[in-house]
Amino acid sequence: MEATDFQKLHEAFILKAERAIDSLLPPADTHPARLHTAMRYSMQAGGKRLRPTLCLATAEAFSNQTDARYAATAVECIHTYSLIHDDLPCMDNSDLRRGRPSCHKAFDEATALLAGDALLPLSFQLLAQGYAANAELARQLIIELSIAAGSSLLVGGQAEDMQTASTENEEHRLEYVLQGKTAAMIAAPLAMGAMIGGGSKSDIEHCRRAGRAAGIAFQLVDDLLDQSSNAEKMGKPVGADTHNGKFTFVRLRGVKATEQRIQTLTEEALKHLQACQGKMDFLCALVTNLATRDR
Ligand code: IPE
Ligand code: IPE
Ligand code: MG
Ligand code: MG
Ligand code: MG
Repeated sequence: MEATDFQKLHEAFILKAERAIDSLLPPADTHPARLHTAMRYSMQAGGKRLRPTLCLATAEAFSNQTDARYAATAVECIHTYSLIHDDLPCMDNSDLRRGRPSCHKAFDEATALLAGDALLPLSFQLLAQGYAANAELARQLIIELSIAAGSSLLVGGQAEDMQTASTENEEHRLEYVLQGKTAAMIAAPLAMGAMIGGGSKSDIEHCRRAGRAAGIAFQLVDDLLDQSSNAEKMGKPVGADTHNGKFTFVRLRGVKATEQRIQTLTEEALKHLQACQGKMDFLCALVTNLATRDR
């Protein structure tokens, strides 16, 4: 796909995601206004919108015309809640997010905790209501997202990431963290998009696997950028992993091995995308570009 075509499509997906978020979140003046303002503050701070883009683009790659915006917003709600909580002083203690003061800095810790709490059920409400006309689809989407966001993946990965010292095999633990805290929430929007688009069982599984591989690569790039980029570009503090004593792949194996693994994982993701029956060119270009992103 031509770089300019990719750019245009990418911008259109981001715009679609931003509009869906704006229309599906409760208005900021809904009582209690401080809570709803905080939810919108974090949800509407920009960010790359990778997960909703993956969901919208995967749905479009297949033939069904079902509206993917509810699922795209649901996934971004969970992702944003995880970032709000990730930044709290009891977790990574990070004051900057998406180029703005983190939610607990702009508001207060209790409001940030509650804004995250509220985004979590909102995501499942969006799936249950948004796909009510197709109860089987709604059920599958809810299962996919709840497993990805649950105690064995997103939350489990975050829990394990908080443990700085462990007697367990470190490589094994690191893989669990990568799969859980990051890859699960990249695999879910791809699988959900394929479900919404009417992909076959095999398409859905290939999309899920593509997301897992691309998701681990995404976190490896994040870990590299934490060492090499700057806060202005990233919209969040850099050097935070070293400061917090995080055990990352790059710390364990070094920059070169990390770059090689990003390459291998990206190829694996592309192989799975290419095995699908849909029009996968945009997704392939997106996954390829993620490996060399600089923010
Ligand atoms: C940040 O995710 C958390 C990680 C998994 C590294 P993103 O880098 O996608 O953050 P936003 O959505 O663009 O803010
Ligand atoms: C956290 O990973 C991923 C989630 C919030 C689930 P990081 O702690 O590395 O994310 P950043 O660097 O703060 O965005
Ligand atoms: Mg963290
Ligand atoms: Mg963090
Ligand atoms: Mg990070």
